[in-house]
Amino acid sequence: MDSKSAIGAVAQAFIDKINDKSAVIGIIGLGYVGLPLIMAYSRLGYNVLGVDVDQKKVDALEAGESYIGHISSDDIKTMVGSGGFAATIDFSEISKADAILICVPTPLNHHREPDISYVLETTRAIAPHLRQGQLIVLESTTYPGTTREEMQPILAEISGLKPNEDFVVGYSPEREDPGNPDFDTASIPKVVGAATKDGLAMISSLYRVMVPQVVEVSSPETAEAVKLTENIFRAVNIALVNELKLIYDDMGVDVWEVIDAAKTKPFGFMPFYPGPGLGGHCIPIDPFYLTWKAREFGRNTRFIELAGEINDNMPKHVVSRLAHAMSEHQKKAVNGAYVLVVGIAYKKNVDDMRESPSLTLIELLQERGATVDYYDSYIPVVPQTREHAELAGMKSVDWDEATLKKYDAVLISTDHDNIDWQLLCDTAPLIIDTRNALSKFVRSEGHVIEKA
Ligand SMILES: NC(=O)c1ccc[n+]([C@@H]2O[C@H](COP(=O)([O-])OP(=O)(O)OC[C@H]3O[C@@H](n4cnc5c(N)ncnc54)[C@H](O)[C@@H]3O)[C@@H](O)[C@H]2O)c1
Repeated sequence: MDSKSAIGAVAQAFIDKINDKSAVIGIIGLGYVGLPLIMAYSRLGYNVLGVDVDQKKVDALEAGESYIGHISSDDIKTMVGSGGFAATIDFSEISKADAILICVPTPLNHHREPDISYVLETTRAIAPHLRQGQLIVLESTTYPGTTREEMQPILAEISGLKPNEDFVVGYSPEREDPGNPDFDTASIPKVVGAATKDGLAMISSLYRVMVPQVVEVSSPETAEAVKLTENIFRAVNIALVNELKLIYDDMGVDVWEVIDAAKTKPFGFMPFYPGPGLGGHCIPIDPFYLTWKAREFGRNTRFIELAGEINDNMPKHVVSRLAHAMSEHQKKAVNGAYVLVVGIAYKKNVDDMRESPSLTLIELLQERGATVDYYDSYIPVVPQTREHAELAGMKSVDWDEATLKKYDAVLISTDHDNIDWQLLCDTAPLIIDTRNALSKFVRSEGHVIEKA
């Protein structure tokens, strides 16, 4: 048998196992992306294996407990009760999986350069346990070339197996949007790329059983670039509306009203909304993966840099708007004032505060001499973060009239649906609204609401 037909047999055996549901699906990294993914395959009736370096997560899952706000413990219990679920920190178990999906973090380092160390650590940890016939898919966001140039050689060298003959690597970007009621892991089309035709057939079969549409592209690098393009598109468009907000604000024009009217055009326009700055694990970070890789080709990413600059400046703009409003309406300074920041998750209705601009807002206000509290029922305590270590342990205040009355100014940073906005309108003397959260609420007599 020549090597080409051998690959065909390996691929066919994999596809058969996917189709008759005897394949074991292994997910590495059980966070915001990996946990919904493992649940989706479990719901389809596959035996699933979760691997994480965090023993606490493994223990929680085995006990039927969720550690992610929008995922219910009942759903975890259903998965555990199916009998086809196992979780472990032991990477040798991965030899049991036919498909290995990697969903580990891909942050930036202190120099704002890609940190793919989690991906490489995972690659090194699974390589000794690789066996013939496995498909390894990277789902973490990264720059073009990571899967084929970085992961594949490590897997081949440590395992002694031949890429594209014994095992196959592929890339499929995760497009999870936590907290979005309209889409979940199983309803978002999947883009897939692999180095060979057989690899592509394997990766397509893996996702075709889960999602309504699988979009095949010609290489892992293309699939990696698709994800970056989606997130760069968002970062640049958010920067654009943030800039428009500042300009229209000077002209006395409400940018939210403009966007709401503009989006009635049935073609050629897509609404993006301004805010206090970019947050989340993706949009503030992923574009810079391309910036770094582009340098290798002597290219600058000017749109990305400009968008980053505009978005990074938003918290400063918001704080100076607040200072101006306090001085104009209350004849008070930020120095010595009591300020409440409402919402510190990076977006509404989630318990995720990675890269949230709210922490920058709190620090900027503190630097100006304000005493700052925050309210967010999704985040009762500020966790440890690399950039804002000194805010760790800060606790959300109570949400009641007596508490709200204490503050000179309230700054709305995240517009969770579960907040009693009318109570805020009735009690706070001055509100700076960065999310247009109060557009439908009644402003009480003598209370000032300004958009920023
Ligand atoms: N969160 C999102 O909305 C989202 C959306 C699309 C893409 N992504 C991308 O998906 C990837 C994962 O993001 P996330 O939000 O799920 O991250 P996360 O931090 O929520 O989860 C990552 C998990 O990986 C585990 N982990 C870390 N190092 C590990 C290792 N060496 N081996 C095994 N497990 C390890 C962590 O303990 C954690 O449970 C990132 O590349 C991210 O950019 C995230």
